[in-house]
Amino acid sequence: MGKSVPTHFQCDDDVAVLEIDHPPVNALSHEVRTTLAAGLDRAAQDPAVKAVVISGAGGSFPAGADINEIASGASFTPPILLDVLAQIEAFAKPIVAAIEGVALGGGFELALTCHARLAAPQARVGLPEVKLGLIPGAGGTQRFTRLAGPQAALQAITTGEALPAERALALGLIDALAADTRAAAIAHARRLASEGMPVLASQREDKIAQVDPTLFESWRTANAHRYRGQLAPWRIVDAIEAACTRTPRAAFELERQYYLECRDSPQREALMHVFHAERAARKIPGIGADVTPLPIRRAAIVGAGTMGAGIAMCFASAGLPVILLDVSDAALARGVAHIRELYAQAVARGRVTREQAEAALERIGTSVDYGSLGDVDIAIEAVFEDPVLKREVFERLDRSTPSHAILASNTSTLDIDRLAAATRRPQQVVGTHFFSPAHVMKLMENVRGERSSPQALATVMALARQLGKIAVLAGNCDGFIGNRMLQYYGAQAERLLEEGATPEQVDAVIERFGFAMGPLAMRDLAGNDVGWAIRRNRTLPPDERWSPILERMVAEGRLGRKSGHGFYRYEGGKRRHSPETLALIESVSRELGIERRVVGDEEILARLLHPLVNEGAKILAEGIALRSGDIDVVYIHGYGFPAYKGGPMYWAEREGLDAVIATLERLAPTHGRRWRPAERLIEAARAGSWSECGAAAALTSN
Ligand code: 3HC
Ligand code: NAI
Repeated sequence: MGKSVPTHFQCDDDVAVLEIDHPPVNALSHEVRTTLAAGLDRAAQDPAVKAVVISGAGGSFPAGADINEIASGASFTPPILLDVLAQIEAFAKPIVAAIEGVALGGGFELALTCHARLAAPQARVGLPEVKLGLIPGAGGTQRFTRLAGPQAALQAITTGEALPAERALALGLIDALAADTRAAAIAHARRLASEGMPVLASQREDKIAQVDPTLFESWRTANAHRYRGQLAPWRIVDAIEAACTRTPRAAFELERQYYLECRDSPQREALMHVFHAERAARKIPGIGADVTPLPIRRAAIVGAGTMGAGIAMCFASAGLPVILLDVSDAALARGVAHIRELYAQAVARGRVTREQAEAALERIGTSVDYGSLGDVDIAIEAVFEDPVLKREVFERLDRSTPSHAILASNTSTLDIDRLAAATRRPQQVVGTHFFSPAHVMKLMENVRGERSSPQALATVMALARQLGKIAVLAGNCDGFIGNRMLQYYGAQAERLLEEGATPEQVDAVIERFGFAMGPLAMRDLAGNDVGWAIRRNRTLPPDERWSPILERMVAEGRLGRKSGHGFYRYEGGKRRHSPETLALIESVSRELGIERRVVGDEEILARLLHPLVNEGAKILAEGIALRSGDIDVVYIHGYGFPAYKGGPMYWAEREGLDAVIATLERLAPTHGRRWRPAERLIEAARAGSWSECGAAAALTSN
């Protein structure tokens, strides 16, 4: 079979159309670069060609450089992307980019280099390199800044978010929108050939002529916390600043230098691991393309509390009608008021427009009557974490929803099979565990019950994408992947307090490591009563004990943020030291006969992270997680583990699995049997990585 050429050369009269055709996303691989460069040469030499259009097959412009080539180094094999872009800059005939779908990363850099850009109204463009630990490496920071100004560049490139075509048009990144993009681009190219070439983005000066010199320092100060510990966002700012303050030649060179620095950093490797792990997590052995997910057109959420309200928002924001059910009108009114407030905040922060928020609110109906659930395709239960109540709710849902509907639980820890047993359709029962705040957190930990059908699982995996979430499939056990691991992390945080650490110290160590929030601040956010209620249902091995600190906090009404006082005092939303809590901790130490000591930061980090890894290894061995990467995705998107460190399992691999084992062995005699290195960890250390050992290898080779 002949190999297809990834860039097609076609002629529309006097305009050459170079169509990049390299599924799945037209990434700018070596083959694409070579054939694109050859196509440009041919167009340059053919006197009948007056102008060129570059487009992408399958409705999309390139989605970037080829990520695998960046990792392997093949992106440096000539012609490199910069060579092709230099060829475009020097081209004597106009070149127009026709962007029909997405144009991202190197793909958008290619478009920015052309003489003009036309996009379909539904197209999205952007420079997402930062999400891979990179900065745009082919002039993206420079041309974007010159076309749209530094303010817009800082916002778009440091976050990596794709811009809707209309916004890109308003910013000057795109010249026009056209539904029939390719035809319009051909006409535009022909016009430029007769009327003259526009100024290239790299030579535009107007948007960088009068830049407020304090802009960059202000940005650095404002974002110091957000991007602490990371490399790429800071290099992006440096490159954008250089675009405004240096000669074009020096600034382009600096961008390249920063790109190479980021490309060689461990953060880039970790973030690419996350990119692949997120995609691998979608693949469930045994559930192939032959399993069709049930279309979800309408949903019910049972329980209008913190989680139910947030989950309802996820559906409404994704354009799906949803009915929120609770026991009383008062509970529903509270839930709806909460939702209204969250949408108002989103509007105030510019995340959605007022019209979008209003349209979403209109999609949310309310009811106290299970009889109103007769036309839903899925019902998600989010009532109190009480097994008896949840079983009752599942029985009622079974009686009141259509027979095809999926019944899902948002339980944090409870047994999905017991809930399934309360229904006549256990094959349609699954867990859909959202994270708080549900309308923001990206993770959906879907739980497979013993009898969950492939279609039910495929449906909730597809639903996650429909809601813009990242899904991981977990097996059914106490706490699933995330909360099962978290309990030992949380327990250690309190033991460290008993021994002499302060809440501030413990949280600072974890936040410096890169977590969004330390364990005690997180407890305060979730509610200490909630943590305590979950703990009461759990038993520990005989050589372990829970610290009494949490119970005392609850007894004294220090529930966390919601009561204004927990491990910290809260004033105007800010956390402050609590002398009362420190006194409580010290009295617990005294009662337990523990002599308080100075606990080093290194010890804090080791004692918090190692239990995560060891329990993760057990979760892998039991098949609760399919791959170590799934655990990483859960921790990054559900618990704020720094993505640029790759997740706990990846982190352990980078630390050295042997070193992790040595630390666990050192701590086991003091802290209990659970600290003994798990079998799977020992196997992985022998194999040199998680993926090389046991069941994980069997799965990845499927
Ligand atoms: N290179 C290589 N493979 C890529 C790729 C890329 N840039 N982008 C996506 N893929 C692969 C994915 O790994 C996946 O492979 P799989 O089927 O084996 O799992 C397949 O293409 C489909 O991708 P998705 O599952 O993500 O498809 P979606 O439809 O959900 O999303 C997308 C499509 C929006 C294009 C999304 O894939 C995406 O955001 N891609 C990454 C874009 C990006 O980061 N570009 C910048 C690259 S770095 C760069 O350009 C450096 C430059 O400045 C020099
Ligand atoms: P919540 O206490 O805020 O809300 C529970 C809601 O359920 C209340 O509005 C209550 O009136 C309603 N309810 C009680 N019985 C009902 C019934 N029979 N029918 C309909 N509604 C009923 O609780 P929250 O925090 O929203 O938790 C809900 C579930 O989500 C629990 O299973 C919890 O473990 C889980 N969860 C909680 C997270 C959190 O951070 N709060 C995170 C992830 C999961």
